[in-house]
Amino acid sequence: MCGIVAYVGHREAYPVILKGLKRLEYRGYDSAGIALNDSKLSVYKKQGKVARLEESLVGVELKATIGIGHTRWATHGEPSDRNAHPHLSASGRLAMIHNGIIENYASLKLELEKKGYAFKSDTDTEVLLNFIDDILIRNQCSLEEAVRIALKRVVGAYVIVLMDEEDPSTLIAARKGSPLVIGVGENEHFLASDASPIIEYTKQVVYVNDYELAIIKGNELILKNLGNEIVTPFVQQLDLELAAIEKGGYDHFMLKEIFEQPKTIFDCLRGRLDIANQDIIMSGVQHYMEELKTANRIIIIACGTSWHAGLVAEYIIEELCRIPVEVEYASEFRYRNPIVNKGDVLFAISQSGETADTLVAIERAKEQGAIIFGILNVVGSSIARISHAGAYTHAGPEIGVASTKAFTAQLVVLAMIALKIAKEKKSISNARFMHLMHELNAVPEKVKEILASTEKIKAVASKHAAASSFLFLGRGYNFPIALEGALKLKEISYIHAEGYPAAEMKHGPIALVDENLPVLFVATKDAYHEKVVSNMQEINARKGKLIAVVTAGDHSVLSLTGDLIEVPEADEVIAPILNVVPLQLLSYYIGVERGLDVDRPRNLAKSVTVE
Ligand code: F6R
Repeated sequence: MCGIVAYVGHREAYPVILKGLKRLEYRGYDSAGIALNDSKLSVYKKQGKVARLEESLVGVELKATIGIGHTRWATHGEPSDRNAHPHLSASGRLAMIHNGIIENYASLKLELEKKGYAFKSDTDTEVLLNFIDDILIRNQCSLEEAVRIALKRVVGAYVIVLMDEEDPSTLIAARKGSPLVIGVGENEHFLASDASPIIEYTKQVVYVNDYELAIIKGNELILKNLGNEIVTPFVQQLDLELAAIEKGGYDHFMLKEIFEQPKTIFDCLRGRLDIANQDIIMSGVQHYMEELKTANRIIIIACGTSWHAGLVAEYIIEELCRIPVEVEYASEFRYRNPIVNKGDVLFAISQSGETADTLVAIERAKEQGAIIFGILNVVGSSIARISHAGAYTHAGPEIGVASTKAFTAQLVVLAMIALKIAKEKKSISNARFMHLMHELNAVPEKVKEILASTEKIKAVASKHAAASSFLFLGRGYNFPIALEGALKLKEISYIHAEGYPAAEMKHGPIALVDENLPVLFVATKDAYHEKVVSNMQEINARKGKLIAVVTAGDHSVLSLTGDLIEVPEADEVIAPILNVVPLQLLSYYIGVERGLDVDRPRNLAKSVTVE
């Protein structure tokens, strides 16, 4: 969602901010803007892409060495030039960018209107800005003080960055609930929603915590809490290379990330899967092993694709560890007064570690005494910082909006956690444990084999790219993969798609089947295979367009008519990690065939930082 970038130092701010905004495009946005402070505030903003803003500024002299920039994902007010950030305060003295939502903006607005304030936009941001402006002018105080007073009245989530025309060497920033990273350079500082706009300048970063306020000059960074006490910044070294956030010769980030999976899965297993010593090394899991082994229940919360990973984990953990598992949408969990008992462990799964609903759901469960275990991709993210323990997925930065490599890495981590608990609990035999260890170890090579059949999958995609609707079916471990296949297709191609358990087909969805409907089965060999093959026959009998992901060499599917995509044989516990890969490719190529921007699908945001 909204992306923020700011710079103060010795360089011209405009090129740094513009490039930073381009790096943040993947987060999803509908308008972009920049403000510079050359002892006079200049604001430039446009609805649409960053490139449109850039074009509008060709030939304009932009020399300031301090500035703020923003990509907006509309919440309050339609996407328009007027609603784009940065906003200027009524006095004209302040410019501000904001990521998040000010929930009590309506009452603050009323208060300001009574004082004679008029608003140029429909945004909650302009309300907060004028609230700060009002305090600044009435109290004759410093901007830092005005921000502190204002934030004590604010309900909601925010990162804000402000510039004051009367102090053209200082940025003031504050955070609650939305991410903010500060890059520390030589007499310069970079601010951004994530590290991607920063890494080409410096790898020294400070992650600002909730309720902290930063006063930033070129050569000075002061962090304070809202009680005006100084906080020592914790400077960390980023473990990230520029190449990881560039396309590296691929047409799209999504394709690059799909093809990276043999490596990302290998990285995820590396140092953890200790076949020689018949062990899985995961210190976070080990530390809480007693609680995990004896857990009454594991509650998994997540959103979207991460929720699908949670569903696969439900099958795996219940099967291997014999611990009851409940999988919840974080957005539902947070509002429904959930029952969390002593002895419950909560797993939060999130690629970004910033999803607002997941963050709040964790806080709710924590208040009730649950142990929070984070399965996360982004190191140092907000969820990482509020979890008791966890495991990183090590998939590297995921830039394509549709999650691909992060999903398979989540499945690998969850399988390893389940195996480790099962071994300690002795709920599976050593032979089964070792078999699954070997199966996991073989995944990177098997994914490579699937990727080698990309041309075939591309041809299937081309054949079905004009469809207006799709049905995805699967059973057992493959049911969540059917859901994930449907979600990927919706996101990337805008084709309506539904995922269902295959056995539910007869309870309604079969009515949709005619000669125009592609029906995709995830039908690799498992305990239910014969039943799924019967379901496929039923689709053939009704002339639906059958597509099936099947196990290589499976003779039982040879009599079927349709497009069969083969994947290497794998144990049913591990098969979901493989089976999703052809579905990712299928969605990707259908999206490309339909001429869509697969890396930045309409309306979507990579990191959903508002509820
Ligand atoms: C789908 C997708 C989303 C995310 C969801 C949760 O391709 O990317 O459905 O999975 O927004 O995001 P994280 O995992 O960052 O919490």
